[in-house]
Amino acid sequence: MTEQTENPALFSPLTLRDMTVKNRVMMSPMCMYSAQDLDGTPNDFHVVHIGSRALGGAGLVCTEMTQISPEGRISLGDAGIWDDKHIEPWKRVVDFVHGHTDAKIAMQLGHAGRKGCDPLTWERGTPLAKELHWEMVAPSAIPFGPNSNTPREMKKADIAKVRDDFVSAAKRADQAGFDMIELHCGHGYLLSTFISPLSNQRTDSYGGDIKGRMKLPLEVFHAVRAVWPENKPISARISAIDWIEGGNEISDGIIVAELFREAGLDILDVSSGNITHVRRPIVKGLFQTPFSEEIKKHVDIPTITVGNVATATQANDVITSGRADICAIGKGHLYDPFWTHHAARALEHDEAWPKQYPAARAFNPNP
Ligand SMILES: Cc1cc2nc3c(=O)[nH]c(=O)nc-3n(C[C@H](O)[C@H](O)[C@H](O)COP(=O)(O)O)c2cc1C
Repeated sequence: MTEQTENPALFSPLTLRDMTVKNRVMMSPMCMYSAQDLDGTPNDFHVVHIGSRALGGAGLVCTEMTQISPEGRISLGDAGIWDDKHIEPWKRVVDFVHGHTDAKIAMQLGHAGRKGCDPLTWERGTPLAKELHWEMVAPSAIPFGPNSNTPREMKKADIAKVRDDFVSAAKRADQAGFDMIELHCGHGYLLSTFISPLSNQRTDSYGGDIKGRMKLPLEVFHAVRAVWPENKPISARISAIDWIEGGNEISDGIIVAELFREAGLDILDVSSGNITHVRRPIVKGLFQTPFSEEIKKHVDIPTITVGNVATATQANDVITSGRADICAIGKGHLYDPFWTHHAARALEHDEAWPKQYPAARAFNPNP
């Protein structure tokens, strides 16, 4: 290893409220469909899955989209935080991360809305048996796609329940010891369907222009902020654009970012698309980083970029050039739990390995 002059930007710390992450790598939220007994409870799999990415050097690891209510699930295997019984099992995951690594851990809170009643990912192709379905709700009674069930349009009471469920979920996430929560407001799930004009055609105050369509996400944010400890940050993931004509464009994404900034959001996780069954174009390279960059040009808010971040150099360049403040890495973390330590090696940065693994530093992958 060469003598170090300055830490690469990817390995510089970032502080949000009282949370300092040691580097700019986050394990992106990824559904694992592995809840115990299909009742939302995380288990040994989640300890090992999340724990190994924390041992692997990511400064921040995020849980999969964790559902705030049973009817908010994508599939029966989703992890949940809708019941007090979920607190202790999640605390096991958090305690492993805090006890054995110096990573921070966030929980992504979500509600699938009209994208529910799915089979487990490895059973796709066979639809979920009708008797296992639950009632799906959405801002408007518009299905996700031609082969999807039509959700019921939410009434005021449904909206209030969703807000309250997010609040209860956030309190439980705090009791479990999470350092940050991320509200899932992207990818066509419930809060995202409020933001997109393609899925929200309400005529009350929760629909209409982008400010009306942001009313519920902002109400949820304010209600959650009121119970989430003052010293802990909150993130929100958005679909900055819908990739569909008539849907949200980047100008809308900028307004969404500005409204969240005004409300006091600490960091914005900038993704895109998946709002309807029309899939976004298959794009190579850092196709979503321009959205983060554009938002940062117009709005004074830290961002997370995500999508196809593959190499250490790519991630370091994103941070060095200020296009985003954190790189979330999804598939790369499935491929390589030790992505961050390997990135450190590639950038010739002398990053500490877990104390049990000092011998890894002596390993030469290219003898
Ligand atoms: C298996 C899998 C599950 C995912 N589940 C979620 C999720 O729960 N919440 C979310 O916001 N994004 C989810 N995503 C999207 C990822 O967080 C990420 O945005 C996407 O994979 C692009 O990043 P990548 O190219 O680094 O994988 C998932 C992606 C994968 C591959």
